[in-house]
Amino acid sequence: MCGIIGVTGSPDSITVLLDGLARLEYRGYDSAGVALQVPSGLWIERSARGTESLSDLVAALDRAPGPCGAGIGHTRWATHGRPSEVNAHPHRDCTGTVAVVHNGIIENHFELAAELSASGHELVSDTDSEVLAHLIEASLADGKALVDAVRACVRSVRGSLAMVAVHSADPALLVAARRVSPLIVATTDRIGFVASDVPALLGRADVMYVLEDGQVAEVRPGEIRVVGADGEISVPVELKVDWDLTAAQKGGFDNFMLKEIHEQPAAVADTLMGRLSPGGTVLLDEMRIDDDELREVEKVFIVACGSSYHAGLVAKYAMEHWARMAVEIDIASEFRYRDPILDSRTLVVGVSQSGETLDTLQAIRYARRWNAKVLVVTNVVDSSMAREADGVFYTRAGPEIGVAATKTFLAQLVALETLSLYLAGLRGTLYPAEISDLLDSMQELPAKVASALGRSEEVFNLAAAYAASAEFFFIGRHVGYPVALEGALKLKEISYLHAEGYPAGELKHGPIALLEEGSIVVGIATRTRLWEKMMANVAEVRARGAVVVLVANEGDEETGSVGDATLWVPSTHPLFAPVLDVIPLQLFAYALARARGNDVDRPRNLAKTVTVE
Ligand code: F6R
Repeated sequence: MCGIIGVTGSPDSITVLLDGLARLEYRGYDSAGVALQVPSGLWIERSARGTESLSDLVAALDRAPGPCGAGIGHTRWATHGRPSEVNAHPHRDCTGTVAVVHNGIIENHFELAAELSASGHELVSDTDSEVLAHLIEASLADGKALVDAVRACVRSVRGSLAMVAVHSADPALLVAARRVSPLIVATTDRIGFVASDVPALLGRADVMYVLEDGQVAEVRPGEIRVVGADGEISVPVELKVDWDLTAAQKGGFDNFMLKEIHEQPAAVADTLMGRLSPGGTVLLDEMRIDDDELREVEKVFIVACGSSYHAGLVAKYAMEHWARMAVEIDIASEFRYRDPILDSRTLVVGVSQSGETLDTLQAIRYARRWNAKVLVVTNVVDSSMAREADGVFYTRAGPEIGVAATKTFLAQLVALETLSLYLAGLRGTLYPAEISDLLDSMQELPAKVASALGRSEEVFNLAAAYAASAEFFFIGRHVGYPVALEGALKLKEISYLHAEGYPAGELKHGPIALLEEGSIVVGIATRTRLWEKMMANVAEVRARGAVVVLVANEGDEETGSVGDATLWVPSTHPLFAPVLDVIPLQLFAYALARARGNDVDRPRNLAKTVTVE
């Protein structure tokens, strides 16, 4: 996590840095800071007022002394050291001539800090990152150039790192380095940039390159020179960027989350575009695993975190049902520690919006070490996972800035269901005519998503009625279960209310003890295979005095008559139902969070791209 931005050669460095930080805040916002090369040396300003940090910085930068050379900026998601000004980046060395921003975790920082202190360096923060500035200082004192000092520094640290350093002796130079944590470098003919992620530079740079693990880049105005870990000049990989600047702006909505919720019809349509042929064939052009290898797969593991995990759960139902493949699903952070049995006949499907989540990245790396085939479903072209996988299925939801996943979740659902149908076709577990019918139903989803969104006001009104409630249960069966988990996660993340998601049939094995008169239970009661059993579970909670809100299919008055309130969604094939059923839950969480005055784009304690384990 944490967002990094750097610029050199721009007549308006401050604007580039502040815009970049604003666009990177989804990576963390515990504090923000910049370092600028100004005529008197290195000028640093930092603020640690959480979501207000950036506005503090905007005010402070009005006072920046004189024209600027290179500048670096950072927005932090705290790991080591509480969010405070002294722990905010950029960090300085003892001379005040070196400044560093860092994303990642330095595992041996205690050891390094002790050695540095013993040799006379004064470390002032509680962070792991500060050692970087002092290690660079030590190498510069030995006569090394900044680029060599950064390379030496990278060699001496263990862990993950994306960093940018500046030194007042060479005010136009940025030196960037990467190991595991993502970093891109970019240029126009007169300006040089560094950033954690593409949205920070949309509309600014002509060409962007992704730094590979171990590479170090010297970035000057209009010029980039990259060296590998061995010190040899390397040619960086150019990034394919097909997002435009409007995608990274709010476009008239109050916040990114609502904008992204409303972009869901397009996200689903774009993800399906060109993938479904009229004859009923699924076309997956980015698949680099050949069909024969896929036919031989004996077992599938899906690995993911958070909302992506919930999308993976839906995929397990679809893949087992349609493709008749044995599927296990793992929370990515647990996967490699349980000694899973993997070999060349195993397919590991990593699901990750960002393609950078470290837990998932490490899980797929582990799978590759055991010769498993790795397929990644991600929204970010050329992300670390996309580059390391054997095959990639890109969701085409466009950049998602709001921290809570919405449109990328829907895009993952349709991507994974398309993949399941592809596997079913390959393995002959469905007739072509059956696949063709299912694909026809999928094509109807974008319009149905739009129709579900058309009921936003009804959901907002209902949420207003429950604004004073403190506790929510979400229950569902079959694919309604992952929807319940996702509904509860959305509510927790942005409203900070206590919410639990359960398989409805499991409630009676313990959690039902929590229910009391007036508890709010949201049930996913659309017409899937287990509807009758679901309704029996609903009756159990009603009998305990719970207030029941049901997600039901439009026109299904029978279900509608059971709950205290109903959230209506269009009907579809039962395995596609999560795509629609989750929409009122997103809107419900959104409305409750807004009613509580929360910043839905930047919920507390969270970051969008989680690059720590
Ligand atoms: C929830 C959310 C997180 C992410 C999780 C995985 O709204 O956004 O739970 O789903 O951190 O992130 P990705 O998909 O980027 O691997």
